[in-house]
Amino acid sequence: MRNNNVFIFDSVDNLAAFFAEKLANITQTCPDHAHVSVALSGGSTPRAVFAYMSEQPKSNIAWEKIRLFWGDERCVPADHAESNYRMTRESLLTHIPVPAENIFRIQGEEDPQKEAVRYSKLVAAHVPFFNNQPVFDLVMLGLGEDGHTASIFPPDMHLFDSPDLFEAVQNPYSGQHRITATGRVINHAKNIFFIVSGYSKSEMVTRIINKHEGFDRLPASKIKPLGGEPFWLLDQDAASLL
Ligand code: 6PG
Repeated sequence: MRNNNVFIFDSVDNLAAFFAEKLANITQTCPDHAHVSVALSGGSTPRAVFAYMSEQPKSNIAWEKIRLFWGDERCVPADHAESNYRMTRESLLTHIPVPAENIFRIQGEEDPQKEAVRYSKLVAAHVPFFNNQPVFDLVMLGLGEDGHTASIFPPDMHLFDSPDLFEAVQNPYSGQHRITATGRVINHAKNIFFIVSGYSKSEMVTRIINKHEGFDRLPASKIKPLGGEPFWLLDQDAASLL
């Protein structure tokens, strides 16, 4: 049984347009003195969404209200080919009017444990708290073929019980060190959007959305905002087994 937060698009551009409209709505309803706190994701589909948003001559997104954070980062320098920040800078940041002081990069070049602490404190200082939790207005997530999201991989399900906001982890396949938001941060967001495209994700998408055998051992299945369900923005290939 699918929930009504699943949206299927015939192209990634149409998926991106829908996401941009949702973000615009959030910024339009944000009081003038307030900020919209957004946690971005790495990945090829988020990159495609950023590229689309960068190419729109006119946008209803009040970028000047947005504070940009990351839900995860690879522990590499900002100009490294695998940096989520570099990907975002090239596909989005250089094309939109977000003030530099509103961009909060995870410093992948630093010691992972120390950076996880620093970034946790930074988020706590810049993202509004409700019920003793920082509450992002929007968290953007990709989905790995193994069911990981952000950089919460299947062996690290304990990150959904972490008292911390961000932790230093390792990609279990490559050993690459990463910083990731924990389940505590993600699941206290007001809006969570999975952005997923490509046939290679179709089996994982249906396993999680339709709650097939073993789904609850997958990190993406534990993503559940306080309001109920995350939004799933899927292209037809990713949704092909639903
Ligand atoms: C990362 C992302 C990760 C990504 C998924 C999907 O840093 O890589 O946070 O969670 O979104 O692995 O990536 P693709 O869209 O490239 O398959």
